[in-house]
Formats: sequence, C-alpha cells, structure tokens
Amino acid sequence: MYQDSQLVLKKDVPTGRAAWRSPSNIALVKYWGKHGNQLPRNPSVSLTLSESYSETSVSYRPRSAADAGAFSFLFDAKEEPAFADRIGKYLTELQPIFPFLDQLHLDIRSRNSFPHSSGIASSASAFSALALCLCSMEHQCFNTLDDDKAFRKKASYVARLGSGSASRSIFATAALWGQYGEEPESSDEFAIGVKDQLHETFQSYGNAILLVDSGSKSVSSSAGHRLMEDHVFAQVRYSEARKNLLQLMQALHSGDTERAGLLIEVEAMQLHAMMMASRPYVILLAPNTLKIIHLIQEFRKSTKLPVYFTIDAGPNLHLLYPQENRSDVVAFIEDVLVQYCLRGSWIDDRVGNGPVQID
Ligand code: PMV
Repeated sequence: MYQDSQLVLKKDVPTGRAAWRSPSNIALVKYWGKHGNQLPRNPSVSLTLSESYSETSVSYRPRSAADAGAFSFLFDAKEEPAFADRIGKYLTELQPIFPFLDQLHLDIRSRNSFPHSSGIASSASAFSALALCLCSMEHQCFNTLDDDKAFRKKASYVARLGSGSASRSIFATAALWGQYGEEPESSDEFAIGVKDQLHETFQSYGNAILLVDSGSKSVSSSAGHRLMEDHVFAQVRYSEARKNLLQLMQALHSGDTERAGLLIEVEAMQLHAMMMASRPYVILLAPNTLKIIHLIQEFRKSTKLPVYFTIDAGPNLHLLYPQENRSDVVAFIEDVLVQYCLRGSWIDDRVGNGPVQID
C-alpha cells in the first residue's frame, strides 16, 4: 500500500535525527490470530497507556563503504543482539516503503520507561516509536507527511509490520485496528483513533499493572498467533470477538462501566481459553493471577465499584477503573493485592495522550 520508488535521495544525502516517545497499549478486545503479512483475523480495540512507553531516537547520515552495516542499535546504552537482529529484519522488510534507507546509516537508541524484565510486552511501544521515527525521517527528507492524519496512518501501517499491536499505540486514548463494519475508515492494514467514541469516564481511566511474574514467556506472541491457525475453536473465537467489539463500543460510548468491564474480562478469559485449548496447549496464567482474579471479584461484590481486569499473553493483570474510584483502588492494591505481586511490584498507569516527538 505504501511502496514508493520515488522516495530516493537525489542530490546530497542529509544528516539528521528523529526521536519519539511512544506508549504501550492494552487491548480490551484482543487480537489473537493473524494471516498474510501481519493482518488480524479479527478487529481489536485498545486503550493507549501513559507511563509505560519506549523512547527511541534515530540519527542518520550518508552510508559509506566503511560502514560495517546499515545501522547500529543500543538498548539502554547497551548492545542487545536479539533486538538488533529483529530490527535488522524489520528495516529490510521496510525497504520498498522507505527506499532511501539504503542510502543511509542509522544509529538507533532506545529505552523503556518500565523495567526490561517486568513482563510488560514492549513490542507495541518499541515498534510504534521506531515507525514514528522512520516517518519523521521521510518527512524531513522529502516533505511528504505534513498532514497529521496521513502521518499517523502511515506510522500505524509501518508499526503494524513490526508488531500488530504496535499499530494501535499511535493514537491518543483509544485505537481500533481491523476491518469493522461500524467504522467505515477502519482497516486491517492500520489502526484508527477512536477517542471521540469514548464516554469521558473512559478517556481518563486508570490502569494499574499488577506484575505477577516477570519470567520470559513460554510462548512468543508470533508462536501464539500461529496456534490459532488450525485451532478447533478459531472461527467461533473470531465471531465472538466481533460480537464483543460491537457491544463494547456501545458500552464505551454510553459510559456503561459495568457492561464494558464484564466484556473486557470475558475477552481476557477467551484469549487464555484459546491458549489452553490449543495443540500444544499453553498455560500462561500463574497461580497468583487466579488468586488476584478472585480477590477482584470479591472486592467488586463488597464495594460495588466498577473495577475490572484484563490480561494479555502472560500472567500479569491490568486493573481498569474510573479515576473517581482511584483512592479505593490504590488502597485495595496496596493492602490486599501487592502480596501476590512479584516483590510487591505494580505500575500506576492510566489512559494517555499518545506518542510525542522529543528532542
Ligand atoms: O502484537 P503482537 O503480535 O505482540 O500480539 C499481541 C497479542 C495480545 O497482546 C495478546 C493481544 C492484543 O491485541 O494486544
């Protein structure tokens, strides 16, 4: 869709720098199962986070014969060969979209606001930050992406090729990725911002990330998506996700925190039910994840507060709650839940305003 052989530097190849801070996001309706080149089997919707982000800078200059490779990469000022390898493959894949990359040498530096071993998936923030830098570079070199909507659309498309969920991190507050009948502009190729569709209660929602276990995942997300390929429940799951999305968008719009919360929990459980019914089956929930789920259910029953959880492909929980209930929720976490978290650790996050360009 964005292949463009015109984007080649004709005269002097410039030096320059682009840098972005881009947040992670948490899916409310989950993307699980893909086809083709990173295309989703069902549409998903997420809240954009605020405090969990990656900061990435790309300094570029003309590539010379003396350069050993096309780029250098440091994560937290240190070499990370596994990450560098993934970035190398990604940049090669992007060559038809950004042909000028062949003329440049890139020095890429990245860091995350959250600890590397915290168990938070960093691919959404990392690939969205890098995709934004590449689009900024295109604009600096060719003056092609002046329009903010066009810039974000391309950044979301490019981020998607690195990690599907990264396509959603480009937008403030909330994003929808995948073709969805109710949204004429929606697409499998890029996400769109849906902030305007959310009742104001959800626009400032709190998101406490309870770190239950930081161990490396027993299944990577690519391997997880692959498990859906010949899954006996695949078609049922994809149609359930569509139904859940339709109902959730209505609840998010009307401000119905209870209805939204129940749908969000059902989505998390369906994701894990799919994993547990895969061949081979995968169990990513830890004993303390289940303990915390029961405690949240009890808390809800006794306080009547609309506090609900979601879980991604791992054991950690995200507690979602309206800001007006913040003090009760923080007290619940500190007094009851932290003992089930790894070294008592949790991240006090909330819905955020999306990526920002940095110096
Ligand atoms: O973007 P990926 O390939 O890492 O897959 C993300 C999958 C989930 O986090 C489990 C769900 C989602 O929609 O973010």
